[in-house]
Amino acid sequence: MLAGKRILLIIGGGIAAFKSLDLIRRLRDQGATVTPVLTKAAEEFVTPLSASALAAEKVYRDLFDLTDEAEMGHIELSRAADLVVVAPATADLMGKMAGGLANDLASTLLMATDKKVLIAPAMNVRMFLHPATQRNIATLKDDGILFVGPDEGAMACGEFGPGRMAEVPEIVAAVGAALGDGPLKGKHIIVTSGPTHEPIDPVRYIANRSSGAQGTALARALSALGAQVTFVTGPADVPPPAGVRVEQVQTAQQMLAAVQAALPADAAVFAAAVADWRVANAADSKMKKTKTGLPKLEFAENPDILATISQMKQDRPGLVVGFAAETDDVLANATAKRARKGCDWIVANDVSPETGIMGGAENAVTLISDTGADSWPRMGKDQVANRLAQLMAEALS
Ligand code: C5P
Repeated sequence: MLAGKRILLIIGGGIAAFKSLDLIRRLRDQGATVTPVLTKAAEEFVTPLSASALAAEKVYRDLFDLTDEAEMGHIELSRAADLVVVAPATADLMGKMAGGLANDLASTLLMATDKKVLIAPAMNVRMFLHPATQRNIATLKDDGILFVGPDEGAMACGEFGPGRMAEVPEIVAAVGAALGDGPLKGKHIIVTSGPTHEPIDPVRYIANRSSGAQGTALARALSALGAQVTFVTGPADVPPPAGVRVEQVQTAQQMLAAVQAALPADAAVFAAAVADWRVANAADSKMKKTKTGLPKLEFAENPDILATISQMKQDRPGLVVGFAAETDDVLANATAKRARKGCDWIVANDVSPETGIMGGAENAVTLISDTGADSWPRMGKDQVANRLAQLMAEALS
């Protein structure tokens, strides 16, 4: 996927630097060449020898190294790569980038490069939430710097929250997306994801337990294969992937409008758990408790986005993929659903509580198409996404 690509990997000084060693391996597994650059602080966490051994390349560390400058000057180093990746991007490095400082090799390369820069921030949650960091993030985004993560979770410092560096597969996918290369290059794919929130009044809503994990993984996998992805998402638990166009919506009606606005597309995948009904008599102001009895909610049917797009007469995407979450008779119900909605493929899964699939990290799916049903072994949602993205790439080629 990254065959022949050259990546300049700047490793900042944070505890997450240990993951960057694995990142070197994973990028090389995909065919990329990785040239590591270590900041002084990074050397407190990983050794130049480990980085060099894993990359099978020389490691650069010093701005004023006479030998390095004679062999390959820092300007040339900043330009020779196809992409510059900073992982971990510490608060300090991001501050330097946002402020335009260039007082060591890493910050000088970042100022001198004419290539895209992708950064994976990693820091303590308080440091991440600090107004200075948030200001720097906004500045860097305005400058066109690409971000992957940070994730939310338990941190080495014992605290919990946003600031943990994105996991290695996520960074590898973001690298693929940033390079925009792969079998889906030039293809536009729409992905819906997450739940929808249907208002009862301005403060209350009807929702469901979808986390958005499978849709997010799919958008990431398609983007990693080079697709230009429009990611239409309801209010999900997981952050949207890097490198895709994100359209945030709340309701099913808004989701349909966003999908229609994103057309034309070569393919569309409907992974969202769309609410079947909305409250027809939603109130404009907060409903009050009354002595005269309980409020009566009336429901109206929401548009079926998958069916609407599958049955379009003009501009129908060439490949339309739906999901079918079932609790019993999975195969029969999903096969009937595929015919009823008019989509090309249905990804069916059993979401009975005992499977732990809804909201969990794994999925066991059956892919139903006009050639029959293919049951996949239980695997991570990321792996399901990668396999489906690969099959879509084959179908669209
Ligand atoms: O009918 P059911 O909700 O089981 O169908 C699931 C499939 O249809 C999923 O792909 C889901 O994203 C899509 N869907 C939709 N709009 C709806 C309901 C479901 O796109 N209103």
